[in-house]
Amino acid sequence: MHAMITGVAGFIGANLSLRLLERGDTVTGVDNLNDYYDVSLKEARLARLIPREQFDFIKADISDKGEMQRIFSDRQFDAVVNLAAQAGVRHSIENPAAYIDANLVGFGHILEGCRHSGVGHLVYASSSSVYGSNTNLPFSEKDNVDHPISLYAASKKANELMAHAYAHLYGIPTTGLRFFTVYGPWGRPDMALFKFTRGILGNEPIPVFNRGQMVRDFTYVDDIVEGVVRVIDQPAEKSEGTNEPDRSASAPWRIFNIGNSRRVPLMDYIQALEKALGKQAKLDLLPMQDGDVPATEADITSLQSDLGYRPKVAVEEGIQRFVDWYLSYYLT
Ligand SMILES: NC(=O)c1ccc[n+]([C@@H]2O[C@H](COP(=O)([O-])OP(=O)(O)OC[C@H]3O[C@@H](n4cnc5c(N)ncnc54)[C@H](O)[C@@H]3O)[C@@H](O)[C@H]2O)c1
Repeated sequence: MHAMITGVAGFIGANLSLRLLERGDTVTGVDNLNDYYDVSLKEARLARLIPREQFDFIKADISDKGEMQRIFSDRQFDAVVNLAAQAGVRHSIENPAAYIDANLVGFGHILEGCRHSGVGHLVYASSSSVYGSNTNLPFSEKDNVDHPISLYAASKKANELMAHAYAHLYGIPTTGLRFFTVYGPWGRPDMALFKFTRGILGNEPIPVFNRGQMVRDFTYVDDIVEGVVRVIDQPAEKSEGTNEPDRSASAPWRIFNIGNSRRVPLMDYIQALEKALGKQAKLDLLPMQDGDVPATEADITSLQSDLGYRPKVAVEEGIQRFVDWYLSYYLT
């Protein structure tokens, strides 16, 4: 199979690409290597992929129409996995334009490319943030998600709607994946686990929002990769009968939550990190941030029953693996 992975130098994209290459697929990776966080970490992730014969890297911005047209017209992809996006809820308050460019304009170019080149399956990253301030846990794909509380969340919900229109009009199979707080080795420096680890090792207080009264469904990156691979291999089909919030009778379109399906209090997450590092954190207890939500938990019964998805890695083990990677990457 020949897959295009956008956001290939990113946390999930690099881990997913390695897995696809290991099982013998061909991967064309696209990334603009932007400086939202440390570019050398993106380059280090890419350095693990570049030596592989079946891997090709193109430095390009998905919001560049001409560039995207060239990439799609020069190659035939069996699957496209769109992970390139401006990520992060908090940053969308300071820099909304980045979200419009990458997440809306860029996604539009991906859809156009898939349409004109007859791609077999488009899989794209949505987010648990589409659930906004819904309070019924666990979040189900059947829930109403019409009330985003950040531009980031709105852009991801917009992707789901844009994908439906293209799936309906042009028959492109599309699957949107709502990722729930992904963590693990080669992770993202703007996310809590990375910031906490850096703070604890540097004897700095770590920022703890909503004074620690947060609950997250933390999903280990290998479990995410396993779920994405299962999804890639089984293109979406029209559903029988009537439309559902996560299925369509008129289009090969579907949405899945992909999480660990466990509620973990933030303070337990911090304790597990302290244990893995063998060092206590100093806490800087702060109020809730705009755009953020107090709790998430994924209902993953659809992904379980349709594709046999079973997350395997418990938070304590995942944090230990992250810490082992962090220490070897930064401190040796
Ligand atoms: N990590 C999580 O917890 C999480 C949760 C929910 C959703 N997601 C979504 O999953 C996807 C991957 O997330 P990640 O954690 O790997 O993020 P990441 O920031 O590490 O990876 C995204 C990559 O896309 C690239 N990129 C950004 N804009 C681009 C553009 N216009 N053109 C080309 N490349 C561009 C970046 O350089 C980066 O390497 C994103 O769409 C994100 O919104 C992630």
